[in-house]
Amino acid sequence: MTLKGRDFLTLLDFTPEEISYLLELSAELKEKKKKGILHDELRGKNIALIFEKNSTRTRTSFEVAAHDLGMGVTFLDPQSSQIGKKESIADTARVLSGIFDGIEYRGFGQEIVEELAKYSDVPVWNGLTNEFHPTQILADFLTVKEHFGYLKGIKFVYMGDARYNMGNSLMIGCAKMGMEFTACAPEKYFPDKALIAKCEEIAKETGAKLNFISDPEIACKGADVIYTDVWVSMGEPVEVWEERVKELLPYQVNAEKMKIAGDKCIFMHCLPSFHDLKTKIGKEMGERFGLDAFEVTDEVFESEASVVFREAENRMHTIKAVILATLK
Ligand code: CP
Ligand code: NVA
Repeated sequence: MTLKGRDFLTLLDFTPEEISYLLELSAELKEKKKKGILHDELRGKNIALIFEKNSTRTRTSFEVAAHDLGMGVTFLDPQSSQIGKKESIADTARVLSGIFDGIEYRGFGQEIVEELAKYSDVPVWNGLTNEFHPTQILADFLTVKEHFGYLKGIKFVYMGDARYNMGNSLMIGCAKMGMEFTACAPEKYFPDKALIAKCEEIAKETGAKLNFISDPEIACKGADVIYTDVWVSMGEPVEVWEERVKELLPYQVNAEKMKIAGDKCIFMHCLPSFHDLKTKIGKEMGERFGLDAFEVTDEVFESEASVVFREAENRMHTIKAVILATLK
């Protein structure tokens, strides 16, 4: 299989076989890294990383993956580059594709990364937009596969704001891989109807099942994975916190929900997470709303069932697979 020259903008563009291939390649690269076997197969190539929003995992994963593959990396942010202020995305794409072999973009609307890809001659990788976060899904699925040994049929429950990048992308991923995806939230937080319809079509081919349930007791029963994400995403106005806390608190992942799921259930989160008040925003909001955690309790986050740090490590191995598969 070859994905050479392909962009990586959303998992909608990839077949289940291609996604499986990327997961297998990730596992191979992870094993090589653990054994200390050099894999600098892209020596002499260079990539650009554009971040219009903050990042810890995605940026460091792209940087370390590129270094391991023998590549050079240049980081660009809107403050220190011309992007957006003096130069359009279309012009930036044409400039950077003359200099680099691949471009990562993290920012706002999906249409921006699509515009970048349209004008770029080299692969463009989506490092998170408001709508999608496809590299995260590869890391999540590698983690699920490592834990359970398979993906097909896994009961995957997403709690919280399911209409943003994580909910959307996990629904697509689960549909592609024949899993049972449940979005558990008040109805207004379910993914966009047109995207649900697309995923239902995919599910018909793959045997996946999609559920949209507002009662956590029903949704969590028998879950293999309970997943959540922050209730307020990067770039959203601070005013939305009040409504989100009020509406999503019943969907906080806590010991009770993990118990409803059962002993085999694991807890996952893309991170960063407001599981305690040890961050500036967490403390500020915790004091404001009288809470000691938001989307997940500290008890669950720190429990044996939580695989969040292995999941975070897997960002690097899976991003490396995306870079290698699309450039080699
Ligand atoms: N999960 C994730 O994308 O983390 P960062 O925002 O730190 O990159
Ligand atoms: N939904 C979150 C994901 C962070 C990885 C955000 O967009 O901020």
